[in-house]
Amino acid sequence: MKKSLLLLIAVLFIFSASPAISSDIFIGTCVYKFNDTHLTEIRKSMLEEMRLQGGEIVFSDGENSQPIQQDQIDGYITKGVDALVIMPIGTTAEYAIEKAKPEDIPVVIVNREPDPEILKTYDKVWYIGSHAEESGLQSGQILVDYFKAHKEADKNKDGKIQYIMLCGEQGHQDTTIRTEYSVKALKDAGFELEELGRDVADWEKVKGFDKMKGFLSSFGVENIEAVISNNDDMALGAIEALKAEGYNSGDNSKFIPVVGVDATSPALEAMEKGELLGTVLNDAYNQGAAAVRIAIKAADGNEINKNTIGYEVTDGKYIWIPYRKVTKENLKEFILNKDLILKPREKF
Ligand code: GAL
Ligand code: CA
Repeated sequence: MKKSLLLLIAVLFIFSASPAISSDIFIGTCVYKFNDTHLTEIRKSMLEEMRLQGGEIVFSDGENSQPIQQDQIDGYITKGVDALVIMPIGTTAEYAIEKAKPEDIPVVIVNREPDPEILKTYDKVWYIGSHAEESGLQSGQILVDYFKAHKEADKNKDGKIQYIMLCGEQGHQDTTIRTEYSVKALKDAGFELEELGRDVADWEKVKGFDKMKGFLSSFGVENIEAVISNNDDMALGAIEALKAEGYNSGDNSKFIPVVGVDATSPALEAMEKGELLGTVLNDAYNQGAAAVRIAIKAADGNEINKNTIGYEVTDGKYIWIPYRKVTKENLKEFILNKDLILKPREKF
């Protein structure tokens, strides 16, 4: 057998949960891209939830390409899936609804928020997400607390915070809203700010590293007082660039506060080592569990409400999973909870 075919079989095997309780539900999941730390954590959570609830789930990698994901949606519908879970690319949520509606297939949208009008066009579509404002405010508040406690962090003593902003993918609500609200939290607390640089690093660690390298050579490490990143991967990339300058490597006199969002496992580790100041939990465990429960319950013809899925449903359409601030003080709790992703859960 060809090596690539063997690999494909291995991948399919890994991603099909063996049912604990037999159910014939088959869920097709479209992921914006596999190479994304937060979405990979959601995938792990979905797989665990499926293992518990029973049934089969398949994941496909959209490679951040709208045409690829559209083909995958068509493929799943042709195969006769019982429900679709979509982590959209561009406007693929609309596409999925358009294709699934005539077949009466429930659609669960996760992560990128679709236009509310689109959700109204189909009674079997739901959106699971988290309020981006919360994550922006919370990451800003982590910096507020830091600058209040560390007067010396205003290195040039000009009464302003000179910062760098690393942005996620353009057109994603988490990028625009987190950027705006992180700055808002600092301003609301009375801080004056000066943005030295801002750039798009598409949620990626490597791009975060490259952009930060560029900012370091333009402004000099001694003139940067904070780094605000829309997610952890880009923050960790920026930290790599700072480490190359001898910063954020354990010496407290050479530390630039960096904040991210997601609370991925590598980010929690970086916090433990004192490299990353703080982050905000983007709750992959609950986002993934809710997605699978809705898909199964809706495919079985049930109503979707707190009694059937265990999560509050707003306006019949939205499942909002709260963000939580992660700081040095409560870090242990999050590290312990991370293990829950792979632990058996409650049968629902
Ligand atoms: C965001 C998350 C990012 C990335 C993105 C993908 O919510 O913070 O790390 O996963 O979703 O769309
Ligand atoms: Ca300053």
